Amino acid sequence: MLHLKLPTDPRWASIAEMQLENILTDHAYCEQKAASSCISLILRFNDLDELVDTLTPIVAEEWGHFERVLEQIRKRNLKFGFPRKDEYVVELANFVKKGGSRMQQLTEQLLMNALIEARSCERFKLLSVSLDDVELRKFYYELMISEAGHYVTFIELARRYQNPDLVNNRWQEWLAFEADVLENMGVRGDRMH
Ligand SMILES: [Fe+2]
Ligand SMILES: [Fe+2]
Repeated sequence: MLHLKLPTDPRWASIAEMQLENILTDHAYCEQKAASSCISLILRFNDLDELVDTLTPIVAEEWGHFERVLEQIRKRNLKFGFPRKDEYVVELANFVKKGGSRMQQLTEQLLMNALIEARSCERFKLLSVSLDDVELRKFYYELMISEAGHYVTFIELARRYQNPDLVNNRWQEWLAFEADVLENMGVRGDRMH
C-alpha cells in the first residue's frame, strides 16, 4: 500500500531496540519536524483554503505525537537528547526541484512529506511487531495508523492542486530516489530513517 521501493532491513528494529534512548529521541524530533513542516506549508500557501484547513489539525496531531514520545522517554528515565543532523531529510531535500510554478513547488513539498510519512509508517509497523516492550509495540501500532493517514492526505493534496498524472509520474521518481538514498545510508539503529 505504501509503494516504497526498498523494504527496511529486517535487522533494523532489533538494532533500534538496543538503543532505545537514541531512537526515541530521534523519533521525538521527527514528530517535531513533521509539525514544523506543516506549519511552514500553511504560512507559505495561506491562500489555499483546503490545504490550510487540512494541515492545521495535522500540526496538532504531530505535536501530540511529540508529546507522547516525550512521555515514553520520561517514564523510562531516559534522556531526551540533542537533535542530530537528519541526513535522510537533507538528502531528500536535495531532490526537490528548484524553480517552476508555485504549484510545482507545492507538489514537491507535499510529495517529500508523503514519502517521509510512508517510510515512518513502514518503520513504525516494524517496531509494532518486533519490540519486546509491549507498551511501545501498541504505541507504534497506533502511530503507524496515524502516519498512514497523513501519507494519503499529502498525496491527495498534491493531486488536488496539480495535474494528477504529473503528480503520479513525479511520485515514482521520488520513490526511486528514496530507495537509493536508504540503500546508501546503511542500517543505523539510532535513528528512525
Ligand atoms: Fe506523527
Ligand atoms: Fe505524520
